[in-house]
Amino acid sequence: MTREFKKPVSGEIVKIGPSLKEDCLIFGIETSCDETSASVVLNGRKVLSSVISSQIDTHKIYGGVVPEVAARMHLEAINAVIEEAKESAGIKMQDITAFSSTAGPGLVGALLVGANAAKTLSLVHDKPFIAVNHLNAHVCANFLNSSLEPPFICLLISGGHTIIIKVNSYDNHEILGETLDDAVGEAYDKTARLLGLPYPGGVHLDKLAQSGDKTKFKFTEAKTDGKYDFSFSGLKTAALRLIKSFDANDIPIKDISASFQENVSSTLLKKTLKAADDFKINKIALAGGVAANSEIRRKFFELQNSGFEVFAPEIQYCTDNAAMVASCAYFLSNISDELDIEVFSR
Ligand code: KG4
Ligand code: ZN
Repeated sequence: MTREFKKPVSGEIVKIGPSLKEDCLIFGIETSCDETSASVVLNGRKVLSSVISSQIDTHKIYGGVVPEVAARMHLEAINAVIEEAKESAGIKMQDITAFSSTAGPGLVGALLVGANAAKTLSLVHDKPFIAVNHLNAHVCANFLNSSLEPPFICLLISGGHTIIIKVNSYDNHEILGETLDDAVGEAYDKTARLLGLPYPGGVHLDKLAQSGDKTKFKFTEAKTDGKYDFSFSGLKTAALRLIKSFDANDIPIKDISASFQENVSSTLLKKTLKAADDFKINKIALAGGVAANSEIRRKFFELQNSGFEVFAPEIQYCTDNAAMVASCAYFLSNISDELDIEVFSR
């Protein structure tokens, strides 16, 4: 499986893909939300460098990502992040096979910074520019420093998405189901906020949950019509009601966190297993920021005791990063490689 890309100045064709014998060195850039990241990846799998500059400390003050602030901070950080990714990979820009960036979905102003940087590098060095979809890139994080091969079922859980994907081949990601309302990460962050935890709350709620009693409170699982669809807005409302039923100084934060986490992780496991069973696929992979969650990882990796092969990106490649973008550019890009490609929001 190879794809052909055009060099922007000479018009020369460059072949890229896993069935090629020649090595491909892809430079990835990610700026879709609040991480400025650049990375060099060899043949879609071997990470030579990965630099991630997070804006979380700034957005924390506002309790969420402020798009204009995010775009400006990407602009301030991008050159240094690119330079560091090049230096720590020990390569020259002329060695790069292609430059890639996330085209969307994401914050348009933020995306423009990374896309324009990658397009400029592509023009200056006359190497193809490859735009990738952020969701496909999250799936491809599973190929980094790993030997995973399709077909597999991928549960993509992030701040903006909750999707079950049947990865039929490197370049065929089929969506089976998704959330009808809130994404898992959103439910985590909103509930964490109600509990008074700092933004983004998912990781803090996860920590508290680890020392809480998960059987203390029962949240009911939302029913959806679609077999592989999810709904998390009811859970968030139930958490709100529960939290409000306590005196402000007397909220059992750890037990609520643990019970919330138990409900979310069981639902995710159940639906993903249903997809794996229905399609007789015994390989399951996690992806997205929420795939860093301790209980979700524990429940899924436990499946290894019942005949499943389970994969998840290393924690640093679960949340937004450019290595997954470079990997995605190598394995699949269903977006055009023309320099006039536009970025897009959700
Ligand atoms: O993939 P990501 O970095 O950005 C999006 O594309 O949305 O995911 C960020 C989300 C946030 O909602 C964050 O709270 C959540 O991932 N997250 C976690 C954990 N670590 C990050 N949620 C639960 N448990 C964690 N350990
Ligand atoms: Zn993401």
